[in-house]
This record gives sequence, C-alpha cells and structure tokens, in this order.
Amino acid sequence: MKEIFDNVFYCGRLDKNRMVFDQLVPLKQGTSYNSYLVKGADKTAVIDTMYAPFAAEYVQELCDCCSNIDYIISNHAEPDHSGAIGALLEKFPKARVLCTAKCAENIVNMLHVDPASITVVKDGESVDLGGKTLQFMAAPWVHWPDTMFTYCPEDKALFTCDFFGAHYTNFDIFADKSDELRESAKRYYAEIMMPFRNFCAKYLAKVIEMNPNYLLPSHGPVYKGADISFITDLYKQWTSPDVARKVVIAYISMYDSSKTMSEYLCKKLQDNGVSVVLADIMESDEGCIAEELIDAAGLVFGTSMVLSGPHPKTPYVATLANMLRAKIKFYAVIGSFGWGGNLSGSIDAAFNVIKPKKLPDVIVKGRPREEDFAHIDALVEEILPLLPQS
Ligand code: FEO
Repeated sequence: MKEIFDNVFYCGRLDKNRMVFDQLVPLKQGTSYNSYLVKGADKTAVIDTMYAPFAAEYVQELCDCCSNIDYIISNHAEPDHSGAIGALLEKFPKARVLCTAKCAENIVNMLHVDPASITVVKDGESVDLGGKTLQFMAAPWVHWPDTMFTYCPEDKALFTCDFFGAHYTNFDIFADKSDELRESAKRYYAEIMMPFRNFCAKYLAKVIEMNPNYLLPSHGPVYKGADISFITDLYKQWTSPDVARKVVIAYISMYDSSKTMSEYLCKKLQDNGVSVVLADIMESDEGCIAEELIDAAGLVFGTSMVLSGPHPKTPYVATLANMLRAKIKFYAVIGSFGWGGNLSGSIDAAFNVIKPKKLPDVIVKGRPREEDFAHIDALVEEILPLLPQS
C-alpha cells in the first residue's frame, strides 16, 4: 500500500488483462480500480472499494494494514467500486457504509449489502476522522444518479469516483501527462461521461472553483497540483457545446461500392477544408468512433445493403451515437444495394434521443455512376453550411 500524501494511501488494483468494460468499451491496456485509505488521528475510512474478483486480496491488504475501519465511503454503487463492500464488512462488521440515498438503494439491490450497515449522508455533511474531515458533495449524473464526491479540506483532496477517470494502468500513483493517458481519458470520457456532458460541465466548474491540491478518481492516475489542469483543460474542451469543422464517415462495404462513395465524399469534404475521419466500421472499435464523436459536427453512414436493410453494424453505430448523446448536428446515409430494401430506415429509427438534421440519402443500385457522384457533390453542398467556418 503506497502513501500518496499525509496518511492517505492508495489501495487500488491494476487489472491489466481486462479487455472490455461494461461488455461495451474495448480497453487498450486494462483498467484500474482505485480505492483510498484515509487515516485520521481517531478514525479510519476507505473511499470506494474494489471490483469483486480482486476483493479477497484487497481486503487482506487492508486487514494487514489496519486494526479497524470505521467508515466505508461509497461514492458510487457500480460494482467495480462497491463490489468488495460485503467482504470488507465481514472483516470490519462495525464499519458504517456512508453513501447517498440512491447509492444505498443500489448497493442493497445490486450487492445485497445489509441496510443496517448503511448511513445515508446528504450533500454538505461530513465526518471527522481526527485531523482529517471528509465532506460529502452530491454529484448526481457523473455518471449515475447515486454519485457523490468526497472532499478532505485539510489536504484539499477531492475524491471524484468515475469523474476524471481513465482506463489506464501505466502509472504508479500520479499522472504522467502522456499522450497515452490523454487518449485513455478521452476514450473514457466518450463512453462513460459524454451522455452527461452538461452535468460534467457543471461539476467541472465546481472543481475548478475548489482549486484542489489533489484530484483522486477511481480509475487511472491521481492528479496533483499544477498537473490537475491537464485533465480539467481536457474536460473543458470535451464538455464544450461547440463542435469542430469535422465529419465522421463510418462505412462498411461488401463489394467496395459504399467504400468508393465514402472515400469520394471524404475527398470532397477535405477539399473544402473539412476535417474528416473515415472509419471502416469493420476495423474501428466503438471506442475510436465514440472518441471522434466528442467534437464532430456530423456523421455520415456509408453502408452496403444486406438483405432488406443496412449492414447491421451500421445502425449499431447510430445507436451508439444516440446513446452517447453525441453533439452531431446532422447525419446522412450513402450506400449501395443490389435488388431492393430500405437502407436508411433503421438508422433513422436509432436517433430517438438526439435529433440531428437528416440530409438527403445518396443510395445507388450497384456500383456508383457519374450521376451518383454528382449527388454526393450535392450532399457536400448541403453539409458545408452546417459546419463551423474554418
Ligand atoms: Fe467505474 Fe461507474 O464505475
């Protein structure tokens, strides 16, 4: 167990072999489950616990280091952080679990934690450990309704659970400000926080105002001092309502017609100073596309027809963009069919939360001809006025 600063210790675990998170997010280098031990003169607390597969070794380490744990603070109920509460209570049965009312409901239902062990805390309440105070700050929707932050004013240390997290394992304790960390934090934001962009912006402003000395999330490294701006500056960009002069073309092509059309559109947009991400759906994982959607102004689907509809991986991208509440202002469908069907219907239906403007389809029978490329030229003319000027 490593001491981060004055009697605050890291007792998390690195899970370098984990390949996917929430059965959705592909992980490039696994993830970490951060848990923090805070020792006051009189009492001891842990802030967030552990993913269940690591619970036994985690609890053993705490037993080796602590004669008692008085408080188990659960900032958020998702089992990657609360999965060891039960095991910890078996060893320290007098410990009180402190969490929001929503979190209490969740850990009782999801983990069968004994309600008699839980004390619900409200925004602004605190506990005194002796020389260290832990204040609770409700932070719903970053990223669950149950979430809170915990703040230690003596150390100006803010424990933010998933907020500012990264699925990143190449760290000792503190952030290295590497491109790799930036990429991991971006992917994390895209798939975990982006649907709650407005809440993220609100809590980001609060955190900046608090000006903490330490920012301690529950995944990835700890940020200290001047390095905190590394992550807060990124969050300022990502949570901005602005979009870039940028279009994502996500395509899938069985016999190259949709690919040819997508590449033609890409070139025409680039000729007009547009940044284009041309993503072959077969080769790009969801994380790559989600990252590009953080600031894209539009999304174009290039797809082959399979039987009576688009290749099924295409509406999945639309579902992802809708679910993550991408800021896209418009979308369009281009592609090719053999004998018939509806190429855009299931894509249109996927946008049932966000409502980007639908631009005219460019759908061709077989291989595109000169007149089909002219329709793509017309689509470019529709797209350009919708983009921010360069
Ligand atoms: Fe890392 Fe929402 O759990």
